[in-house]
Amino acid sequence: MEIGDIVMYQSFFAMMIGSVTSILNVYPNLVKGFESLHSVTEVLLSDETEEYKGKVKPEKFSGSYQFKGVSFSYKDSDRHVLDDFSLDVKPGETIAFVGESGSGKSTILNLIIGFYKPQSGSILIDGMPMSELSMSRYRQSLAIVLQNNILFSGSIRENITYGLPHISEEKLQRAVWMANLQDVIDSLPEGLDTKVGEHGGRLSGGQRQRIAIARALVRDPKIIILDEATSALDNASERHVQNAMEQLMQGRTTFIVAHRLSTVKNADRIIVLKKGKIVESGTYEQLLDMKGEFYKLKNM
Ligand SMILES: Nc1ncnc2c1ncn2[C@@H]1O[C@H](COP(=O)(O)OP(=O)(O)OP(=O)(O)O)[C@@H](O)[C@H]1O
Ligand SMILES: [Mg+2]
Repeated sequence: MEIGDIVMYQSFFAMMIGSVTSILNVYPNLVKGFESLHSVTEVLLSDETEEYKGKVKPEKFSGSYQFKGVSFSYKDSDRHVLDDFSLDVKPGETIAFVGESGSGKSTILNLIIGFYKPQSGSILIDGMPMSELSMSRYRQSLAIVLQNNILFSGSIRENITYGLPHISEEKLQRAVWMANLQDVIDSLPEGLDTKVGEHGGRLSGGQRQRIAIARALVRDPKIIILDEATSALDNASERHVQNAMEQLMQGRTTFIVAHRLSTVKNADRIIVLKKGKIVESGTYEQLLDMKGEFYKLKNM
């Protein structure tokens, strides 16, 4: 071989090694990319889970509900979780559901949100059958605060305003104040822009709940759905959450699964459920006077 050929082979070799190494370097990214692509297609190709296909989009909701003989059972089971459930709710009313575990309280909330459709009977909202309403429009007037509220790993501000790009600072401050969050925010080094950690890990249960309440308030919903946490909060924290909830419920139709005595007392009407049926309803005093199911539950 001549000197020139050796030099040529050497430089070709270096070029080849370089290319092979860069392919090896991008390989992990490629794998990750394919995995993401796979996940996205899975979501895109999955079946429609929305059971309601209505199209009517009312300008606004006043928040009256009529349940007429609603019966419901979950898929793959023929046991009725709700049986001939009937109830009239006026706009602005606060309805508390109480009953033992498994009596169907959360199921009713799921029906109100429209996650499930009753097998028989009907639900009317402002006089319109739920099956004719556009669910996306309807859910814009709903705020939901559940037992375990999901927070994202961003800042408190992002957690309150997600999905609302054009919210004014004033509105946000008002929601924070009404949700009783001001003291929490004042005590944090970066205020509203403090990161909450993965799933809100750096906040207490009561603080997380108040963030969820602020999130609901800032949307100014007509209808509120609350599944109260069973887990005990300390007294101060409970009072804060309670005050925040009272702010939230004012002038809005509220459905609440109640565990706390204070919430039950303040409700306009308490519905006592047993095995998916309404056994009693009335105000706190009325139900206590009856000395029936509610009386028993309360004494437990
Ligand atoms: N996704 C589901 N699939 C099948 N059955 C279910 C499902 N969710 C609830 N159930 C059943 O429906 C019944 C009512 O459940 P629901 O969650 O409404 O009770 P609950 O009153 O909210 O109870 P708790 O106070 O414990 O939260 C229970 O017997 C439960 O086993
Ligand atoms: Mg429940």
